[in-house]
Amino acid sequence: MSWIRKLAIDLGTSNCTIWGENEGILLTEPSVVAIEAEGGKVLAAGSEAKKMEGKTPDYIEIIKPIEFGAVVNYEAAVGMLRWFLREVMGSAWLLGPEVMVTVASGLTQVEQRAVLDAVLEAGARKVYLIDSPLAAAIGAKIPISEPFGNMVVNMGGGIIEAAVVASGGVVASKCFRSGGSRLDESLEEYLKRKYSLAVGDQTVELVKIKLGTAVKLKKTETLSISGRDLVYGLPKSLELNSDEIFEVIRPMLDEVILVVRETLQVTPPELVADIADRGIVLVGAASKLRNLALLLTREIGVSVHLSIDSETCVIKGAGMAMENLETYRKSVR
Ligand SMILES: Nc1ncnc2c1ncn2[C@@H]1O[C@H](COP(=O)(O)OP(=O)(O)OP(=O)(O)O)[C@@H](O)[C@H]1O
Ligand SMILES: [Mg+2]
Repeated sequence: MSWIRKLAIDLGTSNCTIWGENEGILLTEPSVVAIEAEGGKVLAAGSEAKKMEGKTPDYIEIIKPIEFGAVVNYEAAVGMLRWFLREVMGSAWLLGPEVMVTVASGLTQVEQRAVLDAVLEAGARKVYLIDSPLAAAIGAKIPISEPFGNMVVNMGGGIIEAAVVASGGVVASKCFRSGGSRLDESLEEYLKRKYSLAVGDQTVELVKIKLGTAVKLKKTETLSISGRDLVYGLPKSLELNSDEIFEVIRPMLDEVILVVRETLQVTPPELVADIADRGIVLVGAASKLRNLALLLTREIGVSVHLSIDSETCVIKGAGMAMENLETYRKSVR
């Protein structure tokens, strides 16, 4: 593993994934880093740092350096990336790899620059940027260089983006700063407001995955959860049902529908016709929300399907672009 010279990085709001040439995916870790408040020394990154959340003394800060797909804490992002690069490359890290990094289509020039600089400062020798919907399309084996329109909808922890790719580039796109993390916050608030119940992040995610649905279920499902009663401070358990969770999720579903509609509105008509023929592909881990493809198919009137490897097609596509740089030259910058 030590002599990998080419990498691809998907620096997401929730997860950071690294791909290495001839190896494939080398690392998937939460985008979290534990830093000594004074001096800024990195103590841990990824799941190790995430486990420390809420359990550390004052002199250790747990930081999520990426928000809405953008770098919000530059030093912490560099520290986290350096940690991960050392983990996957060993001493070869010192030689400085060439890296393809994915960026959400809605990032400003300044935000893109911050991603590029952070990866360079973490030890890369050369950095290329690729729009994440383009990378997803490559990863989903869509022939992106053909002059036909294909639509990719990427839903992650911090963004919902829809993009039409054709002739090797993004022709139209819209990006909302929303996604799985904001949904988790809404669920957490709901449990506090309705049941005076405080729960941990893992419970919230479990509720979303087990009971979350984009279309109301014919047969209501239930799930028992436990947390702390906010009034009495004591442990408390209760049963939630899929109908109430659906109502909490509904505003985010409206956002996904809107982002797709707005993208289609700014897409040239010939390409819209292609999309009607070929359908829309969903990628990103948050797009695994139950029945999301069904909802979008109904609302948009075009067949929508979840990519087989929805969680990994962005990083795989970025890796393919890194490995075949000449082929994808005009799709990267
Ligand atoms: N089965 C599932 N159903 C619904 N949501 C899910 C499921 N599995 C994972 N998620 C959510 O997906 C989100 C993470 O998605 P992903 O890893 O694609 O994001 P990211 O790439 O880190 O972020 P972004 O691209 O938005 O910057 C989390 O909010 C997680 O809770
Ligand atoms: Mg992502």
